[in-house]
Amino acid sequence: MAATPVMTPLQSVTGSSSRTAAEANPSESVIEIWGGEPLSGHIPVSGAKNSALVVLGGTLLCSETCRVRNIPDLMDIGRMAEVLLALGLKVNRAGNMLDVDASHVSHSKAPYDIVSKLRASFFVIGPLLARLGVARVPLPGGCAIGARPVELHIRGLQALGAQVHMDHGVVHAYVPGTRGKLKGAKIYLDYPSVGATETLMMAATLAEGETVIENAAQEPEVVDLANFCIAMGAKIRGAGSNTITITGVPSLHATDYSIIPDRIEAGTYLVAGALTRSEITVGPVDPNHLTPLLAKLRETGSKVELEENMNIRISPGEKIAPADVQTLPYPGFPTDMQAQFMALLTLADGNSIVTETVFENRLQHVAEFNRMGADIKLKGDCAVVRGVSHLSGAPVTGSDLRASAALAIAGLAAKGKTTLYGLQHLDRGYERFEEKLLNVGAKLRRIPLSEVDSAAQPTIGAEN
Ligand code: EPZ
Repeated sequence: MAATPVMTPLQSVTGSSSRTAAEANPSESVIEIWGGEPLSGHIPVSGAKNSALVVLGGTLLCSETCRVRNIPDLMDIGRMAEVLLALGLKVNRAGNMLDVDASHVSHSKAPYDIVSKLRASFFVIGPLLARLGVARVPLPGGCAIGARPVELHIRGLQALGAQVHMDHGVVHAYVPGTRGKLKGAKIYLDYPSVGATETLMMAATLAEGETVIENAAQEPEVVDLANFCIAMGAKIRGAGSNTITITGVPSLHATDYSIIPDRIEAGTYLVAGALTRSEITVGPVDPNHLTPLLAKLRETGSKVELEENMNIRISPGEKIAPADVQTLPYPGFPTDMQAQFMALLTLADGNSIVTETVFENRLQHVAEFNRMGADIKLKGDCAVVRGVSHLSGAPVTGSDLRASAALAIAGLAAKGKTTLYGLQHLDRGYERFEEKLLNVGAKLRRIPLSEVDSAAQPTIGAEN
């Protein structure tokens, strides 16, 4: 009989309390990486950030306490829990398990100061509308990779019967009429938006009647959310296909649910193995969630083997061959792996073309790779990557979560020392990043900015 976990009531959640000062202030610290060390051993994969965030939003749909397991210890998770606390929910944590009691939702307005730091907190709008018939959520800003509008979310909620207007940067939504219940509808998404699919699927679980979402996103995290809602008693069919049908039910009950492993974290470490010409295993992860990446790793010459207990083994081929990549909605090549895979292509024995079709500004890492000696030319949404014999360590700055991870793993392969700035991005998506790499032989450390050799400060962003 497993011991009853000791749950700690969360007042404000900012990740594990065991962080050092440097980790606690990521924007005040850097990671120094000494490249050229081969890796060996196993890198464990945490729960999926992009499942955890939306599933935590989904706990608002339940009028009882839900237990969610395999939650990664990330800053974004802490911020999402703070949004739930601000709405009046009770959140208790024990290790990577969160108990969320949404029996009383005392507010319908998500706080701006948190939403402005975490776009994913916009996920509460669908559940709040479904539960309370009213929601006031600040419009999530854009970010480094694009404007990231939410008109598909809003138009879908309007199709479900909500009145929605914008006022001073806040999205005000409410369901007219005494019952305050959304009505099922047929919704076509102009673009298979992950977030819009998730918002509308959650809202429809408690609507009256049937909702059909056409041209829906098919990402594994959408399926994970659907499975979580089904575990709470929702009636959802077709998640994972481009047409999802939801039959509304009066209420949802408690559940104990474990989220899927993070396919992007797993993919990042697989590419780190390929970049450093190492043999490592990464897992657990569902290989079916990584089909395009595994195919591209094999195309570039890596040997990729699926092992039991959901581990993937990668080992180097004769050389790194070039490969062309185009990012697409799932099941296409994931945009969240584009920067990491480009790092590998910088060392290919030939030229590759990388095309980013999902976000309008997700090639900022090209300039940073070129500072490390890569030879990449930008042409609109395409990057032409000419392979070079080696990368050289340099001070570099990550512009977003995945670019930061890509620069870090590039540093593992570069000659000399790389100093990575912009850790506030990295810590949003990678749990125990340094520890996991140190455990397989990488040489890196996180230090406060004050200890960085000032001569090595990057010129990026310096006043001209
Ligand atoms: C989710 O973002 C992920 N985030 C992103 O991961 C991921 O890159 C993205 O899906 C695509 O896979 C979370 O799940 C928290 P979208 P989301 O709506 O839902 C446009 C990471 O690194 N669009 O599928 O915001 C949008 O501008 C992050 O972990 C509209 O135009 O992505 C973008 O160009 C980054 N109008 C494209 O669709 C809308 O109403 C894809 O966006 C909604 C989206």
